[in-house]
Amino acid sequence: MDKLRIRGGQRLQGSVQVAGAKNAALKMLAAGLLTREELTLANVPHLADITTMARLLAAMGVKVQRDGDTVTVGSAGLQSTEASYDLVKTMRASIVVLGPLLARAGSARVSLPGGCAIGARPVDQHLKGLQALGAQIRIEHGYVVADLGANRRLRGARIVTDLVTVTGTENLMMAATLADGETVIENAAREPEVADLAQCLNAMGARIRGAGTDRIAIEGVDRLHGTHYRVMPDRIESGSFLVAAAITGGDVTLQGAAPATLDAVLDKLREAGAVIEQGEDWVRLRMTGRPRAVNVRTAPYPAFPTDMQAQFMALGCVAEGVGTIVETIFENRFMHVLELQRLGADIHIDGNTAVVRGAAHLSGARVMATDLRASASLVIAGLVAEGDTVVDRIYHLDRGYERMEQRLAQLGARIERVSHA
Ligand code: UD1
Repeated sequence: MDKLRIRGGQRLQGSVQVAGAKNAALKMLAAGLLTREELTLANVPHLADITTMARLLAAMGVKVQRDGDTVTVGSAGLQSTEASYDLVKTMRASIVVLGPLLARAGSARVSLPGGCAIGARPVDQHLKGLQALGAQIRIEHGYVVADLGANRRLRGARIVTDLVTVTGTENLMMAATLADGETVIENAAREPEVADLAQCLNAMGARIRGAGTDRIAIEGVDRLHGTHYRVMPDRIESGSFLVAAAITGGDVTLQGAAPATLDAVLDKLREAGAVIEQGEDWVRLRMTGRPRAVNVRTAPYPAFPTDMQAQFMALGCVAEGVGTIVETIFENRFMHVLELQRLGADIHIDGNTAVVRGAAHLSGARVMATDLRASASLVIAGLVAEGDTVVDRIYHLDRGYERMEQRLAQLGARIERVSHA
């Protein structure tokens, strides 16, 4: 199993190209199910999660072809509407095939994802919304079995979700594109990836308004067609590189980024002492001296993203002062704390709040990645820990960061992948 070995103490400097957004690309691949024509996506990152989605689609008879960072999805030969447990259990986001399958084929059998490291993550809102659109749904042998009963198509409805859910909003928005009449999703997730998916769907002929706000209106159409679409830049990858730059007192410029989607993260980095310049598609961060401790509270977009919480905790571990981190989205997203403590971090957990007391030094150790963003926080901490840090189980990191170690090395980090350490 691959590991990363990092020797701390190098300042990051230079520029790095941001990859396409994993959490937008995954849903757009699923959107390829909505049409018989080809959907071509550019700027698709090379990640394990993307491969999982491609395998899931291929198992249904969908053609998925990759050429560099371009992926073409062709669903004309859709043969099966089943997503098996074997694939779904490795990636919860697989549930986003449910809405498109129902809308396109009238039935679907998709495994329930089950629990995951960072919390229970039920899909009740997805199911409730699809039922409102006229789907009949039952749970059988661990699978969601959905069909349209006597109806030929889903029918538009007004849906108010009980809580803000990103993939839930996306699943319902995709399903509604082919429903009869208008669907309105209230309390919709406002994440930029939702808006990007809506733009892609509109380019396929959908009629969606309001994506990016908490009220999305979708007027159903008879059919969608193929298109070419470029996936937005990954804001979480961007934020992770910026925190890596900040913790090392570095000077790093991100190219091909979307700073407009990073407001909350950039604000916190400034508060921590970073100097930030930005243009439409680039951001430069410079930092001198130790970061200042900041308080962070995760919440749905546009507030501070839960996917950046672990990385900010790493920053707090070496900051001057005491900061609190409140996690309001997932109930068990502090698994990196025990590992950061192995590096000498001073962190106390009380419920969903972590109190992080900055230390002058961290010391390298062997640590274990527990989930995707937790892995990034360990790598970031390793960049400043004295001596060697070895991060085990980095398959988690590979799910969401493209060649992370090569790109950090390009910025001056001493980091290498070891296959048999
Ligand atoms: C997406 C992102 C993930 C990010 C998260 C929150 C993808 C592939 N993943 O995950 O990186 O951390 O948004 O920004 O885009 N919930 C329910 N019932 C539901 C759905 C959700 O109770 O039917 C709860 C979840 O348990 C969680 C909260 O709602 O506590 C938010 O979850 P959600 O926004 O759905 O996260 P994901 O879409 O899975």
